Amino acid sequence: MLEKITVPEVVKMKQRGEKITCLTAYDYSFARILDEAGVDILLVGDSLGCVVQGRENTLPVTLDEMIYHTRAVVRGRKRALVVADMPFLSYQVSKERAVENAGRLLQQAGAEAVKLEGGVALRETVAKIVEIGIPVMGHIGLTPQSIHRFGGYKIQGKAKSQREAIMHDALAVEEAGAFSVVLEGMPKDLAAEITGRLSIPTIGIGAGVQCDGQVLVIHDMLGLFNDFTPKFVKRYADLRGVMTAAVKDFVGEVRAQKFPGEEHTFR
Ligand code: KIV
Repeated sequence: MLEKITVPEVVKMKQRGEKITCLTAYDYSFARILDEAGVDILLVGDSLGCVVQGRENTLPVTLDEMIYHTRAVVRGRKRALVVADMPFLSYQVSKERAVENAGRLLQQAGAEAVKLEGGVALRETVAKIVEIGIPVMGHIGLTPQSIHRFGGYKIQGKAKSQREAIMHDALAVEEAGAFSVVLEGMPKDLAAEITGRLSIPTIGIGAGVQCDGQVLVIHDMLGLFNDFTPKFVKRYADLRGVMTAAVKDFVGEVRAQKFPGEEHTFR
């Protein structure tokens, strides 16, 4: 039986030079498959707004929706660490509300850590949440909840001033007590530099191979979602193709009265 992944274990993986694997999960069945396949961290990402709910971006996702999906994921995993995203407006309004909402993700949903977007500006919020015993994963660089400020899903940290700002964000998140940080959509040399300077693990998405770990959205890597495909996504399977073929078979067999067969029928 493989050992349960805990927050301290994730930090030790960096110290031992072991790469950390993270995938998003939003329900029980996927969580079971990912957990049994050996993924270290299941992230209940607010990306569910796009790939599950069909919304244009992550901004409309609510805390209640995150709690609902996190509960389902927690029921499906035995080994992996479950991290739940704090959705837009659940942590930016005040530190008190951020602490309360982070607490709900642990108390009502069973998450073991929360993730929130932001660096220097969120330093005190991260510190407050950590202070009451809730582990926080930071998220800096291309933070999707700020897409309107960025003017779209654009790589961050190309200009020197942006690079410096992202480095400050990384250091602020670590100082505030986060146990790890997602680096999204930035040049690989910047991500490598941050990874070298921080003692907490960096989990990359569109940030190159030198991060301490990698995360992908499960619908992207399995080829289930093709509304848009960022350059950093690798498709490990074409489940859309597999599902379409299976569903077409079903439709054809029902129409031709081949299904249900004798073996699926009661006497
Ligand atoms: O919401 C999400 O799935 C994420 C990952 C892509 C890092 O934040």
